[in-house]
Amino acid sequence: MSAMQKLMGWIDDRFPLTATYKAHLSEYYAPKNFNFWYFFGSLALLVLVIQIVTGIFLTMNYKPDSELAFLSVEYIMRDVEWGWLIRYMHSTGASMFFVVVYLHMFRGLMYGSYRKPRELIWIFGVLIYLALMAEAFLGYLLPWGQMSYWGAQVIVNLFAAVPFIGEDLSIWIRGDYVISDATLNRFFAFHVIALPLVLIALVVVHLVALHEVGSNNPDGVEIKKHKDPKTGIPLDGIPFHPYYTVKDIVGVVVFLMVFSAILFFAPAMGGYFLEAANFVPADPLKTPEHIAPLWYFTPFYAILRAVPPMFGSQFPGVVAMGLSIVLLFFLPWLDRSKVKSIRYRGPIYKIALALFIVAFIGLGYLGLLPATPIATIFAQVFSVIYFLFFLLMPWYTSIDKTKPEPERVTG
Ligand code: HEM
Repeated sequence: MSAMQKLMGWIDDRFPLTATYKAHLSEYYAPKNFNFWYFFGSLALLVLVIQIVTGIFLTMNYKPDSELAFLSVEYIMRDVEWGWLIRYMHSTGASMFFVVVYLHMFRGLMYGSYRKPRELIWIFGVLIYLALMAEAFLGYLLPWGQMSYWGAQVIVNLFAAVPFIGEDLSIWIRGDYVISDATLNRFFAFHVIALPLVLIALVVVHLVALHEVGSNNPDGVEIKKHKDPKTGIPLDGIPFHPYYTVKDIVGVVVFLMVFSAILFFAPAMGGYFLEAANFVPADPLKTPEHIAPLWYFTPFYAILRAVPPMFGSQFPGVVAMGLSIVLLFFLPWLDRSKVKSIRYRGPIYKIALALFIVAFIGLGYLGLLPATPIATIFAQVFSVIYFLFFLLMPWYTSIDKTKPEPERVTG
C-alpha cells in the first residue's frame, strides 16, 4: 500500500472523504445531455467566490464612515497596489452575478427544472435571488456616491409607504431620519458578513437538494427511471467527475474572457455597471436629476412606477413589486403541463414564455428611463403581461397541446 493510500485510509476512518468524493463527484451521475445552459450554475459558484475573495481585499482598505468612505474607495482605485483591479472585479462581478443568475433562472423556465421533484431546489434558488438583491443593494451604498445615497434614500422610503407602521419601519431600517453614517455602518455589517453567510448557506442547501433528486436536463426526462439492473446506475447518466468538471472548464474559460474584456476595456459598461453619478461624493443637500437603480433592479423598479399611487401613497406599487417576486415561489404549482421541457411543450407555453421575456426586458429598459407618460403606459402593459404569465399559467399549461415526451434522453 502506498503512503498516499495509507493516508487516505487514515482519513477515511475518521472523516467520510472518499465517500463524499464518490457520492458527489466520481459516482454522482448527471444526465449525459447537458447543453451550455447548464454552465450557469457552476459559473454562479465561480462569481460567488470572486465576490467573496475580492470583497475581503476591499474590506482591508475601505472605511465604513460617511466622512471617509468615498475617499477610501478613491484611495483603493489610485493608491492601493492592484486596488483598481480588485474594485472593478467586485463591481463588474456584481453585475455579472445577475447576468449569470438570470440566465440560470431562464434555463429553469425553459426546461421546467422547478417542477416535481425539484420544487425545493427552485425555492432555495428564489431565496438566493432575494438574498442576492439585498446584498447588491446594501453594497451599493458603501462607496457613498450620489447614486449610492439617493438610491438608498428612494428604496428605504418605499418602506415608509407601508400603512400605519411605515414611518417607524423606515427609521428603524436607517437608524436615523435620513440615510446617514449610522445607515452606512449597518449596511456595511450586513453586506460583508450577515448576507454573505446567508447566501453561502442557501447555496449549500440548494446543492444538497439538487444532489438528493439529481439534475433535470434539456429533455426534461428523469434519468433515474431507467437504471442498469445490475449496477443501479442511470443508463443516461455519466459521472460528474471527470465529464462535467472538465466540461464546466469550457464555460469558465469563455466566462473569464467576457469578464476580463469588460473589466479591462469597459468597467463602468457605459454607466450600466457603475453609474456616472456615483463618481460624485454623496451630497444630502443635492438630489440628482434622475435616480435609477442599476440594470438588474430596473424591471422591478418599472413595475413599482407603473402602479399609480393611491391616496398619495406609493403602497400599491410596493405591493405589486413584492408580488412580482413572491409569485416566483409558486411556479412549481402553477405549471400544470404534462411535460417539463420546452422541447415537448405546445405553442401556447412557448408564446407565453417569449412574451414574458419581452415584458421582463422591456420593463428593465423602461426602469432605466425617466417615467414619462408614454413610458408609463408601456410599463403598465409589460407589467400586466408579467403578472398574467404567472396567474394564467394553470390554465394555459393545461390546455396546451404537448408532444409526447421520449422515454430516454435524446442526443
Ligand atoms: C448564487 C447563486 C446560485 C448558485 C451558485 C447556484 C448553483 C447551482 C448549481 C451549481 C446547479 C447545478 C448546475 C446547473 O444546473 O446549472 C444549480 C441548479 C439549479 N438551480 Fe441554481 N444556483 C444559484 C441560483 C439559483 C436561482 C436564483 C435559481 C432560481 C430561482 C436557481 C434554480 C436552480 C434550479 C431549478 C436548478 C436545477 C436545474 C436542473 O436540474 O435543470 N438557482 N444551481
